[in-house]
Amino acid sequence: MTTYHLALLGFGNVGRALAQLLLDKAAEVRERYGLDYKITGLAARRLGWLADPNGLDVAAALAGRAAGGRPWEQSDIRAWLQAARADVLFENTSMNPQTGQPAIDYLKAGLEHGAHIITANKGPVVHAFQELSALARAKGQGFRHEAAVMGGTPIFSLFREALPGVQLQRFRGILNSTTNLILSEMEAGLSFEAAVKKAQDLGIAETDPSADVDGWDAAVKVSALATVLMGVPVKPQAVNPTGIRALTGEQVRAARAAGQPYKLICRAERAADGGVTASVRPEQVPAGDPLANVNGPDSIVTFEMDTLYSLTVSEQRPDAVTTAYGPFADFLGLARRA
Ligand SMILES: NC(=O)c1ccc[n+]([C@@H]2O[C@H](COP(=O)([O-])OP(=O)(O)OC[C@H]3O[C@@H](n4cnc5c(N)ncnc54)[C@H](OP(=O)(O)O)[C@@H]3O)[C@@H](O)[C@H]2O)c1
Repeated sequence: MTTYHLALLGFGNVGRALAQLLLDKAAEVRERYGLDYKITGLAARRLGWLADPNGLDVAAALAGRAAGGRPWEQSDIRAWLQAARADVLFENTSMNPQTGQPAIDYLKAGLEHGAHIITANKGPVVHAFQELSALARAKGQGFRHEAAVMGGTPIFSLFREALPGVQLQRFRGILNSTTNLILSEMEAGLSFEAAVKKAQDLGIAETDPSADVDGWDAAVKVSALATVLMGVPVKPQAVNPTGIRALTGEQVRAARAAGQPYKLICRAERAADGGVTASVRPEQVPAGDPLANVNGPDSIVTFEMDTLYSLTVSEQRPDAVTTAYGPFADFLGLARRA
C-alpha cells in the first residue's frame, strides 16, 4: 500500500471542500485503488503554515479547532514542504489575474521539492503553463489544473487522456456561472442590480462582483483553455472582454421573448497565422442553440476539432463538491499512474 503525504495550501472554499472530500473518500480509495493518503501540510494566511509528517487533524481544522502540527514561517515554503514530507502540493490560494503570483512561486517550490503539483487556480495556468509544465517534466512530477475551468468537469484531462492527436480549431461556450445566473434572473424579471444581489445571496457572486460582471473571469478561462488546449499562450488582456453591465432587464427580457436570448459567450479560434483570436461578450443566440438553454449557474462549451467536428461538455448544478472533485481526480490520476 502506497501512502501519499498531501500538503494543502489555501483553506478557503476550494481547500476546505477538497479536505472534506479527501476525508470522505479515504476508505473507498484505499479499497478500490490500494492507495492511502494523509494530510501532512495545511496552510493559509490566517491559519498559518502547519506540518506534521504523521498527519494533521484536518477534521478539527474544518471544525475551526487546532489541527496540531508545527507552524512554519510563510517565507519558508520549502521548509514547510519538507516538514510535511509532501508528495503532492495542492495549491488553492486566491487568483491573481495580472501575474498569477505568488501561486506560481509556490508551485515551482513544490516541484523543486519533488512533489506533484495540483491547482484550481487559473492564474498559474494563464501566466506560467509552459514554464511549470517544463519544470514538472524535468523533475519527473505531474502538473494538473482540472478545476481551473468548469470545476471538476473533465476538460483538460479529456483532451490529455481521451483525445490524443486532435487539433482544436475553435471553441465556444458559457464559462462564467455568475453572469449566466444574473442573466437568467433578469429574464425572470429582476433588474441587473437585484439579480447581482440575488447571486451574492446564493453565494455564487462575490462581494465585489466586477471580475465576473465585466467579463474578466470568463476571459481568464478562455485564456487558460486556449493556452493549454490550443498550445498558444493567450493573455486575458488580449481577450479584451465586454461584460454584461450595459444590459438592462428590458433588453434581456425582450431578447428572450424574441427567441434570441442574451448569453455571455466565450470564443477562441485558431487564426491563419497560427495565433488564436478570442473574445468574451454578450451575444444573442438562437433559441434552438444548446447554449440558449443553459441557465442559472450552469456552464457549457463546444469544441470543434479536425477529427471530431463537434463535442459539447456541460456542467449542471456546480457547487463546492463538484469543484473539489477537480483536484481530487487530478490526484488519483497521478497516483494511479505511478
Ligand atoms: N470557488 C470556486 O468555485 C472555484 C472554482 C474553480 C477554481 N477556483 C479557484 O480556486 C482558488 C481558491 O478559490 P476559493 O474560492 O477557495 O478562494 P477563497 O475562499 O478566497 O480561499 C483562498 C484561500 O487561500 C488563502 N490564501 C490566499 N492568498 C494566500 C497566500 N498568498 N498565501 C497563503 N494562503 C493564501 C486564503 O487564506 P485566508 O483564509 O487566510 O484568507 C484562503 O484560505 C482560486 O484561485 C479560485 O480562482 C475557485
